[in-house]
Amino acid sequence: MQVARTIAEARVAVAAARRAGKAVGLVPTMGALHEGHLSLVRRAREECDFVVLTIFVNPTQFAPGEDYAQYPRAEERDRALAEAEGVDLVFAPSTEEMYPPGALTTVHVDGLTEVMCGPFRPGHFDGVTTVMAKLLNITTPDRAYFGQKDFQQLQILRRMTRDLDLPVAIVGCPTVREPDGLALSSRNAYLSEEDRQAAPALHRALLAGARVAARGGTADEVEEGVRAALASEPRFQLQYVEARRPDTLRRDSLPGPPLVIAVAAHLGATRLIDNVVVEKESP
Ligand code: PAJ
Repeated sequence: MQVARTIAEARVAVAAARRAGKAVGLVPTMGALHEGHLSLVRRAREECDFVVLTIFVNPTQFAPGEDYAQYPRAEERDRALAEAEGVDLVFAPSTEEMYPPGALTTVHVDGLTEVMCGPFRPGHFDGVTTVMAKLLNITTPDRAYFGQKDFQQLQILRRMTRDLDLPVAIVGCPTVREPDGLALSSRNAYLSEEDRQAAPALHRALLAGARVAARGGTADEVEEGVRAALASEPRFQLQYVEARRPDTLRRDSLPGPPLVIAVAAHLGATRLIDNVVVEKESP
């Protein structure tokens, strides 16, 4: 497994793979790898000949007051996990390498960034799209793998690559969960024992909402179903519950699926997000 620290080194390594006719798969992460990240690596390993894993805690996607400084960093362990999964190249640049002084360009996707997490995390999605445009241009993958855990991020990146004609297929992968339903997240490490016990209620509440959606409920009824289910767990401070159309992230007054039901809530100081997608039943 190769490790590249600079953009130039990463480009050389990917170019050699390309010259050998290999299909390149990219798995972008902020490190502190868990089984959710590794599920993306495994999918990339199955579908591509050369797998690139990026590890970069991207400062521009943390709003002021968020957890950039505390975000878990475990690069040595991450590299060992990557090696064990058959990653070909780890790209782990410094902040200065990715953001040398003087840059004036930001990539902004309209609309999709203004709903759900958007208002609660000012500038977050601009940070994500800007760093992803850079990482895609540096590693020129054929396919790039993202988790549905961050459903809004996935849809924004799909829109960005379409709108900018970036020659990459965006692949969305299912959310990996703990046996009790809690979606794996690097931020779960922050949870106190009591909060960890309470956390699976978030997924249970989404499943309650999904049942309302499957019965043909409206967005309002679905959201009410999620809120009612969460009311039994007073430790949660809810930011939003939203039932929206998965492709456009628009609210729709017509009842029934397809719907993405998404929540964001604080448990203590930890912000958790989760979602489920209810597909339209095939006739
Ligand atoms: P990070 O939070 O490290 O997540 C990296 C990738 O792993 C994302 O595509 C995310 O959706 C996926 N992932 C996280 N938890 C998952 C789970 N439980 N199951 C399946 N996939 C999961 O998302 C980011 O980093 C950053 O915003 C990034 C895209 C790297 C840009 O900086």
